[in-house]
Amino acid sequence: MTDITRLSGLRIGAAVCGSFCTFEKVFRMLSELSDLGCEVTPIMSYNAYSTDTRFGTAEENNTRLAEITGHGIIHEIVAAEPIGPKKMFDVLLVAPCTGNTLAKLALGIVDTPVCMAVKSHLRNQRPVVIAVSTNDALSGAAKNIGTLRNYKNFYFVPAYQDDSIGKPFSMIADFTKIPQTIEAALDGRQIQPVLMPPM
Ligand SMILES: Cc1cc2nc3c(=O)[nH]c(=O)nc-3n(C[C@H](O)[C@H](O)[C@H](O)COP(=O)(O)O)c2cc1C
Repeated sequence: MTDITRLSGLRIGAAVCGSFCTFEKVFRMLSELSDLGCEVTPIMSYNAYSTDTRFGTAEENNTRLAEITGHGIIHEIVAAEPIGPKKMFDVLLVAPCTGNTLAKLALGIVDTPVCMAVKSHLRNQRPVVIAVSTNDALSGAAKNIGTLRNYKNFYFVPAYQDDSIGKPFSMIADFTKIPQTIEAALDGRQIQPVLMPPM
């Protein structure tokens, strides 16, 4: 049974990767988490923090994320390193999580602020919640998703095929399910079904 009132006061590290088309939805959810009383600290990969795309300039996106959360953005490896030692977060959310970051996490590569945040947070054996958004989720990235699902302390936000005809290997998390996924992860539970029908 989901009780999202438990989220009030929760310290969430919100790590954003370069799936720029999902920023709008993710930022909306982070705003909702703040409204629920969570303390949300944003973290961005180098690419998410510095790239201008048709989904907004880096400056626009960064300003908005900082405003929504009321916190400065962690965007350097050196700033992400203390996350574990200082026990900064109860849960670390990676949303959106790109195919690139999935691959790095599965292989233990730590060369971005997001990967550093995950590694540092995991030393405390606290949950990491992943919300995938990648066109190769059902092809090249599938093995990495499988690897991470077998790792302790990793939980996945339920996801669906967002365009099975046009992009047959693509999947995207249902970002509205982030609160429930976090709440279950705090109890060591993966919410189900993790694979959803198309919306
Ligand atoms: C406009 C745009 C949209 C992108 N969307 C996605 C996406 O939805 N999923 C994904 O895995 N990569 C996407 N990428 C590619 C990533 O940004 C790229 O792989 C980058 O290296 C990711 O770095 P990060 O994982 O450190 O954030 C996109 C790139 C651009 C320019």
